[in-house]
Amino acid sequence: MERTLTIIKPDAVAAGHVGAIIDRLEREGFAILGVKRLRLTEAQAKKFYEVHRERPFYSSLVAFMTSGPVWVMALERDNAVAYLREVMGATDPAKAAPGTIRALYGSSIERNAIHGSDSPENAKIEVGFFFSTHELVEA
Ligand code: PPS
Repeated sequence: MERTLTIIKPDAVAAGHVGAIIDRLEREGFAILGVKRLRLTEAQAKKFYEVHRERPFYSSLVAFMTSGPVWVMALERDNAVAYLREVMGATDPAKAAPGTIRALYGSSIERNAIHGSDSPENAKIEVGFFFSTHELVEA
């Protein structure tokens, strides 16, 4: 079993897609070990996306991710990191395969509905960013 971190982003929360996305994740076999609804502070968003700080979209991405509440979840499944990225679809919803979460609920490369860790190493860091060990309850 492997863990990954997902964030249902402010666009999908505002549009009322939280239930549909969680339903999809459960149907895809993910167990939810931890969940938090919160509004990221600017400092949290900057730190979370620090790896992208030199990219031209960094400040816009930070502004978007702090624009409203998000749902953060620690998920578990076989091959969780790679499988979640498959279920999410490509970063740009216009290029995401039909039926993927971003194709269904995203509207731009920034407002793309969902985040998923990009490697098992980063998944450990990202899960630890939001959850302490006692907040993660095995299925
Ligand atoms: S990369 O090059 O693979 O590291 O980048 P990628 O995974 O495609 O994107 C990393 C995160 O940055 C967001 N992103 C953008 N936001 C705003 N504008 C533009 N042009 C843009 N390009 C990428 C993208 O949604 C990713 O967010 P997360 O939360 O990691 O999915």
